[in-house]
Amino acid sequence: MQYPVYLQLLGTKNVYAIQGPSRFYECSTMGDQTLCHDVVATTWPERQRILDMVADDGPWERISREAFMHCWNDRNCHMGSSETSAFEVREHVELAPHTTFGIAAKARWFADVSSIAGLREALNWSRQRGVELFVLGGGSNMLLHRDVDALVIRIQMRGVEVLSDDGRRIQVAVGAGEVWHDFVLHTLDQGWGGLENLSLIPGSVGASPMQNIGAYGVEIREHFAWLDAIRVSDGALQRFTEKQCNFDYRESIFKREEKGKWIIVRVAFNLDRKSALRMEYGAIERELQHLPEAKRTHRDVSEAVIRIRKSKLPDPAIAGNAGSFFKNPTVPKNVANALLSTHPKMPHYPQLSGDIKLAAGWLIEQAGWKGHNRTTHGVHDQQALVLVNFGGASGKEIWSLASDIIDSVKTEFGVLLEPEVNQVGLDS
Ligand code: EPU
Repeated sequence: MQYPVYLQLLGTKNVYAIQGPSRFYECSTMGDQTLCHDVVATTWPERQRILDMVADDGPWERISREAFMHCWNDRNCHMGSSETSAFEVREHVELAPHTTFGIAAKARWFADVSSIAGLREALNWSRQRGVELFVLGGGSNMLLHRDVDALVIRIQMRGVEVLSDDGRRIQVAVGAGEVWHDFVLHTLDQGWGGLENLSLIPGSVGASPMQNIGAYGVEIREHFAWLDAIRVSDGALQRFTEKQCNFDYRESIFKREEKGKWIIVRVAFNLDRKSALRMEYGAIERELQHLPEAKRTHRDVSEAVIRIRKSKLPDPAIAGNAGSFFKNPTVPKNVANALLSTHPKMPHYPQLSGDIKLAAGWLIEQAGWKGHNRTTHGVHDQQALVLVNFGGASGKEIWSLASDIIDSVKTEFGVLLEPEVNQVGLDS
């Protein structure tokens, strides 16, 4: 069965989008009211109902996606029982515990949002008051420069749902608020391969496609199926395929042309019990040397990645950080060749485009910044790409250090570093 399947109950205006064997969206009309439900079937009778709906002999007929979306988007939907939400807004909430950098800054308003209905309420709330909306996922990739004068919503949609399983390949949909690493561990517990190289990346599932997270030779796009997102302007739900996300190195449309326009609520992945282990990254191979190749498992690769990350990257629970602060820069071949003639040991990675990617960590280290310490903050002593808040640093101080590093690398190598971390409230 290929999901989603769009249906209409014969003789009614009720339409359904069946997402998988245990979930569907329903848009039904009762009198002059339209009810929109997101139904998760957790028990056998509910699941049987879904099977009945997709069977060929029932009172349902297939309709187009457009016909379903017409009902879902264009009518004034009131959410049904499975989508009721307790939407509670708090004031002047400290954000430091909600970001991995741990920089003190307050949200003027703050709310946890755990359902699409709750999210739509938040959109209405902010629109009615003319207040900006600011989305916090795992808070792992942002530097706060000042208090946030907005309604900050923390995306808390949970749940891992198997959409299809042919005994080898699995498609699984995950709530945007799940913690990324917990989800990776869950896939390994189930014996599903594919995401093991992305172990221990901080942040949430919903944030993972925003910047096409990647590590140790694997990027999320390789396992990405689709994502559902809510449009900020009108609350409409839309599905994005891999192609529509237009992924690139640490990039997607959600960081570029569609920035700020969508809130990701659910992400689906294609996993494989027999996916090939990805060990081409030298450090992984070294970590696994003691194990014969035939005996290595997805779990072994995950454990190797966890060991490597722990040895190189600071634990945000101990020292605030947002992982790599800078992107690895890509330069034209002639620029890379000129640098290589004076720095023959410079790491460099030819790209399909013909350009050359350089290692920002190496450039920063060569410019003398590795381990640099400004008391409250500094440059990590094991990985120069990572800026660290040792405690009490402000966003402005971290940015001042980042700017000094950018200037110094530019002077030394003529290469312009760009931050990978999102800057929030930076004066332009
Ligand atoms: N290097 C140095 N000094 C340093 C850091 C790196 O000389 O302080 C050299 C290394 O020796 C190596 C090269 O630079 O030759 C590349 O280093 P590494 O393999 O550690 O990877 P990276 O390019 O520094 C990227 C990601 C990391 C990811 C690792 C592993 C970016 C911006 N960073 O770092 O991602 O974990 O590869 O795949 O692409 C993150 O995004 O938060 C993150 C940690």
